[in-house]
Amino acid sequence: MTTYEKLLLENKAWAQEQKEEDPDFFNRLSSLQTPEFLWIGCSDSRVPADKITGTQPGEIFVHRNIANMVVHTDVNLLSVLDYAVNHLEVKHVIVCGHYGCGGIKAAMTNQDFKPVLNMWLRNIKDVYHQYMQELNDIKNEDDKTDRLVELNVKEQVMHLAQTSIIQRAWKNDRRPHLHGWVYGLKDGIIKPVLEVQPGDKIDPLYEYDNL
Ligand code: CO
Repeated sequence: MTTYEKLLLENKAWAQEQKEEDPDFFNRLSSLQTPEFLWIGCSDSRVPADKITGTQPGEIFVHRNIANMVVHTDVNLLSVLDYAVNHLEVKHVIVCGHYGCGGIKAAMTNQDFKPVLNMWLRNIKDVYHQYMQELNDIKNEDDKTDRLVELNVKEQVMHLAQTSIIQRAWKNDRRPHLHGWVYGLKDGIIKPVLEVQPGDKIDPLYEYDNL
């Protein structure tokens, strides 16, 4: 059996098991999803949103990219955010990074990863640039990576707060709450590093006043 055939076989077994545990499971989920959370995480295969949070299908709306970035020109991310906030009406948006992130490590090198990856990693380099002094003072490379992982998560949460999508929902609906989390590959534990409540002050430069 090839590796991908095993996936299809496992899928059949899973579907059967779900049905046995909860005969109405697929009927219920096929007509409606009402997730309370939007998860913006890293594409890294070791950080599956539902597994590490013990959530079931239907509970988390997910967007993943390299190093869990919130880039204000990224139509993909913004579409997911818009849909989650305005149509699914999620109560929480979680940006979850992880220690030892390969994307963060790559952005800390001077290697040419060729055009598209260079473009993406540039967003992380800009975060490094913002906290250069603090980061340059950290001598251990792993510690430096992990600190940039934390700072990057905080920065991406602030990028969310800077969007008109979030600001409009805050004004009209007092939601969603924004969370910055970092997952530990070595112990499986998620560490919260930032929480932003609806209406919290942000840099006035990014505030929209005619929402
Ligand atoms: Co990563």
